[in-house]
Amino acid sequence: MQTLANISSLSSSSSISQMLMMLLPFCFVFLWSVHVLFLQWYSRRKGRRLPPGSLGWPYIGETLRLYAEDPNAFFANRQKRHGDIFKSHVLGCPCVMVSSPEAARVVLVTRAHMFKPTYPLSKERMIGPNALFFHQGAYHSRLKRLVQASFVPSALKGSVSEIEQIILNFLPSWKDNCTINTLQEMKMYAFDVAILTAFGERMEREMETRIKQLYQRLEKGYNSMPLDLPGTSFHKAMKARKLLNETLRRLIDERRREDDGSGHGGTKVASRLGRGGLLEVLMGASNVNDKGHKVHQQLSDMQIADNIIGVIFAAHDTTASALTWALKYLHDNPEILCAVTREQEGIRRKMDESGRRGLTWEDTRQMPLTNRVIQETLRAASILSFTFREAVEDVEFEGYFIPKGWKILPLFRRIHHREDFFPNPDKFDPSRFEVPPRPNAFMPFGNGVHSCPGSELAKLEMLVLLHHLTLTYRWEVVGDGDGIQYGPFPVPKQGLPIRVIPRDDKSSRSFY
Ligand code: HEM
Repeated sequence: MQTLANISSLSSSSSISQMLMMLLPFCFVFLWSVHVLFLQWYSRRKGRRLPPGSLGWPYIGETLRLYAEDPNAFFANRQKRHGDIFKSHVLGCPCVMVSSPEAARVVLVTRAHMFKPTYPLSKERMIGPNALFFHQGAYHSRLKRLVQASFVPSALKGSVSEIEQIILNFLPSWKDNCTINTLQEMKMYAFDVAILTAFGERMEREMETRIKQLYQRLEKGYNSMPLDLPGTSFHKAMKARKLLNETLRRLIDERRREDDGSGHGGTKVASRLGRGGLLEVLMGASNVNDKGHKVHQQLSDMQIADNIIGVIFAAHDTTASALTWALKYLHDNPEILCAVTREQEGIRRKMDESGRRGLTWEDTRQMPLTNRVIQETLRAASILSFTFREAVEDVEFEGYFIPKGWKILPLFRRIHHREDFFPNPDKFDPSRFEVPPRPNAFMPFGNGVHSCPGSELAKLEMLVLLHHLTLTYRWEVVGDGDGIQYGPFPVPKQGLPIRVIPRDDKSSRSFY
């Protein structure tokens, strides 16, 4: 009896749960529709209107269309239909997309306090919750000042020869006629530079190898499903992140012991970047005021570690993607490649005449055309197609109502490809930068409080690499070379496989 009763109660409870399962999607659609109708009613009642556009299907919104259409076409089509500010619903969030420089400036600069940066929780866990880009207010300002001061020209000047040395260690390994994957090579280069700037020249080889290996394991989880179960990429990445914390703590302890009594501490940043890197700057960051009083506590080991990982993360794929595009554009525009080579030969000649070996910071300031090629690469490729912010409260924005919690996406790529600011926007034309771009229309490194502190380093890395590359090699794209893939930054399909050929003119080669 007991058993029968159990079975019947089980079967009735299972049919109820089946029914519930069947009803669930309907409930969901119903609740979603009520939510959307409520928002529309609420905004109308208050005399406010939501931006034009469609929120698409419940929950999935327009996410499938975003993937099916390719992001550029998705945003461009909606901008044409609805104007510079429109709403959508992608990746589980209602969003407002912004593609006018003025409106983007409001979000990023003038009313930045109303729009906080927002990232998926899984990213925050992988990079570390204390990294500056997840924060606003006093903690963010303090860290931003430290990181920014580490990458201003006066701090970078002394790093030119180390950056150059990294190139001279790997470029000659490209054999005549060998095929390389541009993105992979550029990633290795940008990673080595990121490690150099993060840890300085003091890094021991063994420790460097350990950190690199762990970081590479972590990196494999960045674009994975955030499923923390044994065997998943995310789980492996989180394990690597824990080990990275332990390794960085050990390194911090070692450096503290070495520096004991050396008088380090305070915020003399610029002169020290080369030796101990950003790590040393963050370790010494207990600010002292005019009266000799500490105005800030030292950063904790966790805060230091999260920001070191954060900077490596921000520095390396971005710069590698930009360099990969630069090689693609130069390949597709041989007359521009020729002109850049002539400019670099001029630099080389001056070095020879003065009996110098190795580039200096001043040399990198004498490369106007190469600089314009970099600017045009950053515009045309728009490495960060957009960024995410979230309204911290109900906001009145350019005549529209944006409810608290909605995401706002300044669309850098759309702005960089507007015909009215950049005529013939799909043409790669560095000469357009002979005159300064319209204010706020060119934002490859963002704008406002969260703008990129590494912009000067990224440009320096690109200049030094293009100097040696154009003097030494020519390259042919293998395959059709067209198409874009996102991983997560846009790069030419398959990472741009190229066949490299040493230049005929051996006298102008750049290897010393
Ligand atoms: C071509 C290469 C690069 C591009 C295109 C780029 C682009 C950007 C952009 C657009 C932002 C602003 C994001 C936002 O507003 O949400 C940003 C932020 C940031 N970038 Fe870069 N970046 C590059 C290289 C670097 C390098 C080399 C570093 C290393 C120092 C770096 C470190 C950072 C950091 C730490 C932030 C966060 C700043 C904050 O939240 O206050 N980036 N980057």
